[in-house]
Amino acid sequence: LKFIVGGEAGWLSGLRARPRVGRSWFERDLFYHGTFRDDFLWGVSSSAYQIEGGWDADGKGPSIWDNFTHTPGNNVVNNDNGDIACDSYNKLEEDLNILRALRVKAYRFSLSWSRIFPTGRIDSVNKYGVDYYNRLIDGLVASSIIPMVTLYHWDLPQALQDIGGWDNPSLIELFDSYADFCFRTFGDRVQFWMTFNEPMYEAWLGYGEGVFPPGVKDPGYAPYRIAHTIIKAHARVYHTYDEKYRESQKGVISLSLSTHWMEPKSPNLPGDIEAADRALQFSLGWFAHPIFRNGDYPDAMKWKVGNRSELQNLATSRLPSFTEEEKRYIRNTADVFCLNTYSTKIVKHRTPQLNPPSYENDLERTEEDDNSWPSTAVNRAVPWGMRRVLNWLKEEYGDIPIYVTENGVGLKKSQIEDIDRIFFFKTYINEALKAYNLDGVNLQGYMAWSMMDNFEWLQGYSVKFGLYQVDFNDTNRPRTARTSARYYTEVINNNGMPLDKEDEFLYGEFPKATSISIYLSIHPSIHPSIHSSIHPSTYSSLSLSLPPIYLSIYLHIYTHIDITCTYVL
Ligand code: FCB
Repeated sequence: LKFIVGGEAGWLSGLRARPRVGRSWFERDLFYHGTFRDDFLWGVSSSAYQIEGGWDADGKGPSIWDNFTHTPGNNVVNNDNGDIACDSYNKLEEDLNILRALRVKAYRFSLSWSRIFPTGRIDSVNKYGVDYYNRLIDGLVASSIIPMVTLYHWDLPQALQDIGGWDNPSLIELFDSYADFCFRTFGDRVQFWMTFNEPMYEAWLGYGEGVFPPGVKDPGYAPYRIAHTIIKAHARVYHTYDEKYRESQKGVISLSLSTHWMEPKSPNLPGDIEAADRALQFSLGWFAHPIFRNGDYPDAMKWKVGNRSELQNLATSRLPSFTEEEKRYIRNTADVFCLNTYSTKIVKHRTPQLNPPSYENDLERTEEDDNSWPSTAVNRAVPWGMRRVLNWLKEEYGDIPIYVTENGVGLKKSQIEDIDRIFFFKTYINEALKAYNLDGVNLQGYMAWSMMDNFEWLQGYSVKFGLYQVDFNDTNRPRTARTSARYYTEVINNNGMPLDKEDEFLYGEFPKATSISIYLSIHPSIHPSIHSSIHPSTYSSLSLSLPPIYLSIYLHIYTHIDITCTYVL
């Protein structure tokens, strides 16, 4: 006899976590069993500069990331660069083998613009670059893996940066001409397109903080200008697809936007709730509101940037505005929602200094982490943020099909036995499952970042995100499946996390005189430090003081009745 102990079991009350507003932590973090829709699109993600290498092979032109990483003083850890990366340009078969072994249904990758057009312009078209992507796409199709193609993942052709990059509105036409070429050339086999990947980071890190190429430090103005051009470029390309290709190619087109979930510090303070919502609007809404709502920026941005610009005695808002015609042209220019998300921040209202003008200060908030959340190399792991951000999307943009196009965990040290990565995927995918099954979010796919370790931008190769390990010290760049790769395949095969038959809920009564004591052990798939800190032993009661982390606790009763309890503190 086996059954699952639910949240209200009185004798487990010692395990109950502090209640948060609405749902208690205990309820929030309970493990949920279920599956996704039959045609759920399971996949993995990568991007050109991070994996391809071959930075100048066969006539490829330099991108801004090539030049940036080749320039001393760029702040990339160990002076790493993407010259060789995973050498995917020369290891196409190896990559296809990984994808087949993972049994993914889709592969999200990006095209290197300067591999296809070395100068960024159509008159420079490079046959070898086109061949490479044709071979990749053909290989995917032959393996029944759906190609999901990002046209632009941050690696602008240097030649276009030389004319001002995204600060030059002529890039709208140039991007459109490149996209048009890609639709014409690959669109007979590609039916899922993303124009941009995470333009927010490009705008802020590239043109505000200036830590990404092109390294412009203009925090109060340039990010808004850049975003304005990128939104127009996206809309332009959407219309090109719509008018010239949709009918024959029957694909979908969108862009990948990213945000952390923003949790108000004090859910009882309207100011904090507003600040958290504002933080979502300034990250995701910046691009999503015009594209998925009404062609215009979110009110929160228009008000904050507008008011602060006025107080700064500027004649107009630093946030540019769209004409009515532009708004009509921009709104509804995406068929599905593509979300990249990794973590959560706790947000609190603050009134920062007025000058110098800065996007960061326009947000009027502080962001912090909760120290109890497990750290990773880059962010804290906060699985329940996944469910909340998916629900927020549904609230904000309606019942649009959603794809998580990136989610994963970066670790400094990541052995082949990467239990912590399994823990991450298990809990994050579980929260996505709750959003889908319990909240009715129209989630249609999930892409893990990343299929293999790769060049992680400013972190170089020091942070590992891969389901497969890549040995960057070996010129052959051998790839080895981590334990998490096997786990992910299991999730794909199960189409989620169904309950084992033997774990199904049973109704019944215990024999009257059963004396209960409880045997506690920690499932090996949870956090290793907890696993080793608790040696299986017998407890007569459950009063534990453990860090708040997910536990799978197996409780055994002396009469050989097992109680399996998937539990969260
Ligand atoms: C995202 C990027 C992706 C990768 C992950 C870890 O912001 O889109 O290229 O670096 O983070």
